[in-house]
Amino acid sequence: MGKVVVLDHPLIKHKLTFIRDKNTGAKEFRELVKEISMLMAYEVTRDFTLEEIEIETPICKTKSQIISGKKLGLVPVLRAGLGMVDGMLNILPAAKVGHIGLYRDPKTFKPVEYFCKLPQDIGERDLIVLDPMLATGGSATAAIGFLKKRGAQNIKLVNIIAAPEGIEKVKSTYPDVDIYVASIDEKLNEHAYIVPGLGDAGDRLFGTK
Ligand code: URA
Repeated sequence: MGKVVVLDHPLIKHKLTFIRDKNTGAKEFRELVKEISMLMAYEVTRDFTLEEIEIETPICKTKSQIISGKKLGLVPVLRAGLGMVDGMLNILPAAKVGHIGLYRDPKTFKPVEYFCKLPQDIGERDLIVLDPMLATGGSATAAIGFLKKRGAQNIKLVNIIAAPEGIEKVKSTYPDVDIYVASIDEKLNEHAYIVPGLGDAGDRLFGTK
């Protein structure tokens, strides 16, 4: 069973307060989302395996550790997921970035993929799916499903704020996927917004409304 990790670090909690605040403008919101994503990268990579290599310091030869041959892919779900890419890339500069765009069909309510561009070797990469908000879990499960259909083997999902409903949906649909969140909020409202949440993450990142 995949794990659900809540990153309740004081730095993350502090920054979360300011992205929740409706008076925080787009510039500061973007910076904070980037910083939170950077801090989350630290925990998401905690299980990476290390190998020992020999190096030479100015003083002597010594053995030291490096991350062993990890191939990573970041996959932001358009559009709000884009806000998390730069922060993650700061810590994981060698990661390739794929993009998935989804919209909800107004008749069937099913997520439809309208854009998908991924690294060719996604089957060999550890993929980190990025979306700041995990609400109903509809887009997250659709994105994970599309990645698996294209051969993805190893997927982690990173959200800043999640609703309990979304977490349950991802856990029950894809029990192999680990979920990393900064906060599990109370519930969804009747418009599928997270309560208390932060409103529409895409609108707040890009100043649209
Ligand atoms: N997407 C958002 O941007 N905000 C929510 O509260 C739910 C989904």
